[in-house]
Amino acid sequence: MDGPSENIRLLFEPRGVAVVGASANPAKIGFQVVNNLRAGGYQGRIFPVNPRGGEILGLAVYRSLLDIDGPVDIACLVIPAGRVLEVVADCAQAGVKNLVVITSGFAEIGNAELEKRIVAAAAAHGMRVLGPNIFGIYSSNCRMNATFGPKDIKPGQVAIITQSGAIGVAMIGKTATENIGLSAIVSVGNTSDIDEADLLEYLIEDQTTKIILMYIEGVKDGQRLIQVLNKATREKPVIVIKAGRSQRGAVAVASHTGSLAGADAIFDDIMRQCGVLRAESIQEALDWSMFLSAVPQPKGENAVIVTNGGGMGVLATDACEKFGVELYADIDTLDRVFSGFVPAFGSTKNPIDLTGGATVEDYAAVIQASLEQEEFHSILALFCETAGLDEESMMRVIEEKFLASLTIKPIVFILFGGEKMERCAQELARKKIPVFTEVVSAVSALGALYRGFHHRVSYQTMPAQPLPAGSTGSGPVAEDDFDDGVVEEIIRGAQADGRSFLLAPEASALMQAANIPMPRSRVAKSLAEAEAFAEEIGYPVVMKIVSKDILHKSDAGGVALDLLDRTEVLTAYQAIEHNCRVYNNKARIEGIEVCQMVRPGTETIIGAQRNKVFGPVLMFGLGGIYVEVMKDVSFRSLPVNPRQAFEMVSEIKSFPLLMGVRGEAQKDIPQIIAIMGKISKLILRCQEITDVEVNPLMVYRRGEGCLAVDARILISKPGR
Ligand code: ACO
Repeated sequence: MDGPSENIRLLFEPRGVAVVGASANPAKIGFQVVNNLRAGGYQGRIFPVNPRGGEILGLAVYRSLLDIDGPVDIACLVIPAGRVLEVVADCAQAGVKNLVVITSGFAEIGNAELEKRIVAAAAAHGMRVLGPNIFGIYSSNCRMNATFGPKDIKPGQVAIITQSGAIGVAMIGKTATENIGLSAIVSVGNTSDIDEADLLEYLIEDQTTKIILMYIEGVKDGQRLIQVLNKATREKPVIVIKAGRSQRGAVAVASHTGSLAGADAIFDDIMRQCGVLRAESIQEALDWSMFLSAVPQPKGENAVIVTNGGGMGVLATDACEKFGVELYADIDTLDRVFSGFVPAFGSTKNPIDLTGGATVEDYAAVIQASLEQEEFHSILALFCETAGLDEESMMRVIEEKFLASLTIKPIVFILFGGEKMERCAQELARKKIPVFTEVVSAVSALGALYRGFHHRVSYQTMPAQPLPAGSTGSGPVAEDDFDDGVVEEIIRGAQADGRSFLLAPEASALMQAANIPMPRSRVAKSLAEAEAFAEEIGYPVVMKIVSKDILHKSDAGGVALDLLDRTEVLTAYQAIEHNCRVYNNKARIEGIEVCQMVRPGTETIIGAQRNKVFGPVLMFGLGGIYVEVMKDVSFRSLPVNPRQAFEMVSEIKSFPLLMGVRGEAQKDIPQIIAIMGKISKLILRCQEITDVEVNPLMVYRRGEGCLAVDARILISKPGR
């Protein structure tokens, strides 16, 4: 990943754009693209191409691409689908670097073959393809509006990448009304070639772009996207709106883009892992974009709320808790800094309540004091409409006194009230002041700023080195033994048998080779062996029939639980043998398994899978109903570092159960993290393993460890 390729740089900064299918007919897209390029003040050369020749909007029309006498970095194709392929050869001969294929009628309607041939023909000549099925591309760096969307795109600092053309076109208008300017907007359509990761490579380095906003329905190459997003979020905020969160939505997405969206929960967790901010709605994404482009990074956690309304202060406090914004809490400092400005019936405790009689001057003084105090890192200034609050002077003070302060620390202004407050908010927004008219959306934006801050801080303190097997998430870590030879032998054996799954004894042996604790067990072939093995394992034990011909062991009377001593073992051995003979007298009995009886603990589940979109993914959750009904699980793309593994454990809703509730002892979380490391290592080291699931992993009190009671392992067929 060394930055954008030359083609992609020229996609955003082309020296010349040819419009193939340029038309003199204003009703046609071929006219609108030429018109937008001209109206937008494109700084390169525009080459309309149409075999009819003539002029369009005062520009000479070229009869062929081959007649063009200057560099053409983009050929924007607005000709019917059936004619696109034949034009590719001319593009190559004319030295075109990128094809921007606006035309529809390809993979989105099942015509994938033609799309592939176009991409292959372009690639053979070093050309890249954006689209097809797009509304075009806008880049403020060279004032290029090569779209058939709105003519007047407001330049600014937010870059949008969108998989939906219609949403993209609508966002051009919506961002303008929200006073958000765009550095770029790119419609990716069918992503036949150029995808989000290619575009991000440019936008990461682009000085004009401060915020990247993506509308995503499905991901094709998730592993590359993760790599580029990890790099992007270290440089600037990346906001994602992903459709298909609901089950029905996911089905709709699959039919819309023809791509598999992947489980939304996995997408959600992986985006968080990359430091991407996932917005719930377009409005939330725009709010965050506006705010994050207007304020600096905070230098620390502590926010202060200043308000003239106690109720609003409480609502803001609730929202801070919900969105992870920490409120400064040292009462003595708060009192020292603010007591001079707050009336006796107000409050200096955070929220700072100036009460309903507060004047604009009171606000100005308190905000100024907050700016000067180093321990306060961000400010929420809540103005409720009151008779005493003069809105004209409020606007003047905010603009004159605090616009410049927005380079010092983040300030969120919230103007709550009727028409007058709404008008003030609009006017201030036009001047690039981050102002909201509602408290929850304001705090949500501040929360987004802090999530980005936390991600950058955690990256700086713990770069993404992999989670070593045996890691406890804290303190020094010893590398565990991991018997690659045994693991390989087990897998080869199963593959030779034509199986894509491991049998229970194979799975147990593989767990042992990976040094994952399983219940102790041996297969006895005689009464004497059963007795000896039970003594060796320690009571109580469980006994089970081992026979390929008896699948349902309990039905056959082939299981005995909780055997406490030698006599019980001997009786059980004879009873199991007898029962199974009666059940199926032809069954081949290999022996009777004597197994450690697992004592009850907290049931958890750890899994790893080779995900089709994102590659190796790790999963953790509480077992039983927690995973089945509540879906209380967390995911990460592998590798993960110890902190990320701990985050996975701590972010499930039932985490308090692991920490110990109602006087119960804390569970062995370091051992859970260690086993997560071992399972990660299994899937990362053995390409043949496609799925591992330990369920349940029985977890005991801290220091007492865990037991993998059951393991399910899927492998690829040989040669795959
Ligand atoms: N070289 C140059 N010009 C050509 C060529 C060629 N090889 N072949 C045809 N032309 C000319 C035509 O003569 C015509 O010019 P004219 O107006 O002077 O006669 C012009 O190119 C356009 O060709 P038409 O056949 O008239 O095609 P039309 O403009 O009706 O449609 C279009 C072309 C717009 C590409 C259409 O096929 C299409 O795909 N429309 C959908 C676009 C779309 O929605 N994209 C997704 C956007 S995302 C969203 O939903 C917002």
